[in-house]
Amino acid sequence: MSEFVDISSVLSGQYTGKTVQVRGWLDNMRSSGGIHFFMVRDGTGLIQCTMKKGKVDDTKFEEAKNLTQESSLELTGTVYEDKRAPGGYEIRVENINVVNLAEADYPIAKKFHGPEFLLDHRHLWIRSPKMQTILRLRSKFLEAAREWFQNNGFTEFHSPTLITAACEGGSTLFSVKYFEQEAYLTQSWQLYAEAAIASLGKIYTVAPSFRAEKSRTRRHLTEYWHLEAEAPWCDLDCIMMIQESLFSHVFSRLAEKAAKELEMLGRPPQELLRMSPPFQRVRYDEVVSILEKKGVKFEYGNDLGWVEEKQLTEEFDKPFFVTHFPKGIKAFYHKPDPSNPNVTLSADLLAPEGYGEITGGGQRIHDLGELLKRIEEENLNPKDYEWYIDLRRYGSVPHSGFGLGVERTVAWICKLEHIRDAIAFPRLINRVYP
Ligand code: 4AD
Ligand code: MG
Repeated sequence: MSEFVDISSVLSGQYTGKTVQVRGWLDNMRSSGGIHFFMVRDGTGLIQCTMKKGKVDDTKFEEAKNLTQESSLELTGTVYEDKRAPGGYEIRVENINVVNLAEADYPIAKKFHGPEFLLDHRHLWIRSPKMQTILRLRSKFLEAAREWFQNNGFTEFHSPTLITAACEGGSTLFSVKYFEQEAYLTQSWQLYAEAAIASLGKIYTVAPSFRAEKSRTRRHLTEYWHLEAEAPWCDLDCIMMIQESLFSHVFSRLAEKAAKELEMLGRPPQELLRMSPPFQRVRYDEVVSILEKKGVKFEYGNDLGWVEEKQLTEEFDKPFFVTHFPKGIKAFYHKPDPSNPNVTLSADLLAPEGYGEITGGGQRIHDLGELLKRIEEENLNPKDYEWYIDLRRYGSVPHSGFGLGVERTVAWICKLEHIRDAIAFPRLINRVYP
């Protein structure tokens, strides 16, 4: 056991009156009237530590004057409850050990920096209060989602990242030289998940997906984290209900365990709870008429883009499903609706407030002949999909799945202006550094 305690536990009051040791980074410092005030951060919290002249060795007190922002420190002191201190507690320092005196020119000064500068210094900017809050909320979001999958009988399954056949169309594939052969970075685990349900039943994953998106938008990354699920014996309605139950759990867990973070981001927990399921189901045809009524130029058969989704989602105050997209704008594996084969048994979940699509999915084709026909219609090479087609030959069952964009969802929950802030080191069309 370490002799050091977490700052969060000091702030919870459990050490009041006791002598503790903490360690962390100097967030900022000021001195007045023979007292140094240090704000120290350790990843669990931020606490005020005061050092009074005469209470420590004179040389230590003098040396402390030269401490720089982001220096790493070990401190020993007594905990006092103090209403004036941010967080309500302070540590009165008796001893200090400087582990690393940070260079004086910390690049991120307490002044305005443009977004490109902050992206270039992302390795340091992730220490900022806003990034800390978002990254912590992201972690709690995934923790809650995993908890739901575990409680509901889903097994975690991992698919390969290096693949040879497109899942979501060839235009956004990243190609990789794989020895003498060409391979790609995966866009989705889906095709492999469809193989694995005959082994494991209901499954889920959290993994990176890659899209060579040529567009510069506020909602596209080239590498993003994808939370995906696949379930046998499950139709379109079933996969929407699974998502409703998942979101319901995630919202209540976040409201309970991340209330402070949500408040800081301007998303009060009650607001999330109010957005709990059921989520409305709106058919693609109805979307076309809603857009028409709003005077948005949109033709039946086109895919919903950023502009249309922004306009559409402003009409809703909760997430909602758009279902039954036309065949022409959905990938080959989507099952055509038996009652109208021009549309598919598909569903995207759209977040309100102008955010738009956060999940995509639906029911898959399970009939061999129907799959071969769609592969041909889409001009795909059946050879590339041989193993996938095989799944329809050996014990095919009705099945469905969905994929959730982790950063899209976190950006919406945290009310972020740009998806890049929902991930620590964003990969964008013009950025793979740092
Ligand atoms: O709608 P998509 O393309 O669907 C699939 O990949 C299915 N195979 C998933 C499945 O059924 N298992 O992608 C799913 C989600 C989108 O709804 C969006 O939230 C996110 O992935 N997404 C992106 N997020 C960030 N940057 C991008 N470039 C994204 N492309 C998709
Ligand atoms: Mg989609």
